This record gives sequence, C-alpha cells and structure tokens, in this order.
Amino acid sequence: MDGNGRWATQRGEPREAGHKAGSAAVRRVVRIARRLGISALTLYAFSEQNWARPKGEVEALMGLLEEFLRSEREEILENGIRLVAIGDLGRLPEHVRQALDPLARESHENEKMTLALALSYGAREEIAEVARALANEALRGAINPDAIDGALIGARIPSLSVGEPDLILRTGGEQRLSNFLLYGAAHAELFFCEKLWPDFHEPDLFDAIRSYQTRTKVFGTPSAERRRGT
Ligand code: IPE
Ligand code: MG
Repeated sequence: MDGNGRWATQRGEPREAGHKAGSAAVRRVVRIARRLGISALTLYAFSEQNWARPKGEVEALMGLLEEFLRSEREEILENGIRLVAIGDLGRLPEHVRQALDPLARESHENEKMTLALALSYGAREEIAEVARALANEALRGAINPDAIDGALIGARIPSLSVGEPDLILRTGGEQRLSNFLLYGAAHAELFFCEKLWPDFHEPDLFDAIRSYQTRTKVFGTPSAERRRGT
C-alpha cells in the first residue's frame, strides 16, 4: 500500500492526512475482498524499515492502526474474519498490542477470510528468524540439517501460514517488493498499479484480479499448481 505521503503532498496536506485516507482505503479493500470471497489478504501496513521515519509520523501510523483495529473489531468478528499479525510484534507500542492481541485471539477460529496485517514486518528478517530457529533445532539434534529444504522452510515462514500468495499488488507506481513476502513471492503474479493507495478503489482491485486471471489463463495455471510444477 504505497503512496499515502505523495497523495497528501499533492494536496498541500501533511503526510499524516495521507495515512488517514490510506486507512479508509484499507477498510474499503478489506470489505471488497470479503465480498469477493478472497480467502486471504495480507496487507503490508508497516515495514521494519518504516521505524526509521520521523517519530511523529510513526506515532500517527500507530494511532491509525489502533483506531482501525478498534473500529473494525465488530465487523471482523461478525463476518467470520480471522485476523492475524505477522512481523516483529514486540516492537509495537503497548496501545496497539492491547487492541491487536485480543482481536487476534477472539477471531482465531474464524474461517471465512484471513486478514493478515504485516506490522514491523520485513521478509529478510522473517527468513532469518526461521533460519535461526532451524539452526538451533539442528544443534539440539531435534532435526537433521540435511532434511532442511524449501518446503520445510516455507512451512515455517509466518507470512505463509495463510497460504502462498497468488497475487502481490503494489500501488503508487514503484515496481519493487521492498522486503515484502520474499519467500512466498517465488511463484506469485505481480501487479503494479500507478494509483496512489488512498485513490485505490473497487475498479482498481478488479483490474488487478482481471490481469491475474488473464495471465494464469494464457500462460499456464494458477500459482498453486505452478508450485507443484504443473
Ligand atoms: C505507504 O505510503 C504507507 C505506509 C508506510 C503504511 P508512503 O507513506 O510510503 O507514501 P509515499 O511513498 O511517501 O507517497
Ligand atoms: Mg512509500
């Protein structure tokens, strides 16, 4: 979800205003995804690297995150959405954890859709943590190092607990992954959209899905089957 800052700057407003509009776009897109029957949606809401932003901006983003969790709580629970968070959650401020943890707990059994929030997330950091855990298990003799393969690592990657991504979409015109879902991106379709995130609406999501459908129809099979090598 990229482009909040530029959206605000274009209007002569502070970046925080862009994040507020971005938060409205999140609500919009989650609702559409649910209606479409998308089984899992992972949102790159705050990256490990975003901590380096000015303190005021980080605080504004954390405030919006808490507000989102509190205001969407009922809708999430009523609609059978399972909310999960991935990333270095220990770095999040207490006020965010107090909204996040109970909602994750209470929605745990929900099955209609999984909404994964990537918070303080970095894909390299995520992979490193899995590598560290596996190395320790090997040292303890709990696993055989020779048994470590792509599938085993994949099964331990938290961002892939919702399944491997079929489509990764970035708004705001940059054509980079910026440390998002790197391990899971192996077979994913990528879609880059010029629109700034606060301007992202239903037709833009439809464009992305249509593009995904066309590509998987013309060039082969959906990513789940490509992963199996079919
Ligand atoms: C992405 O928009 C929002 C988050 C970090 C959550 P940016 O803040 O990166 O917006 P630009 O790229 O400066 O326009
Ligand atoms: Mg940006």
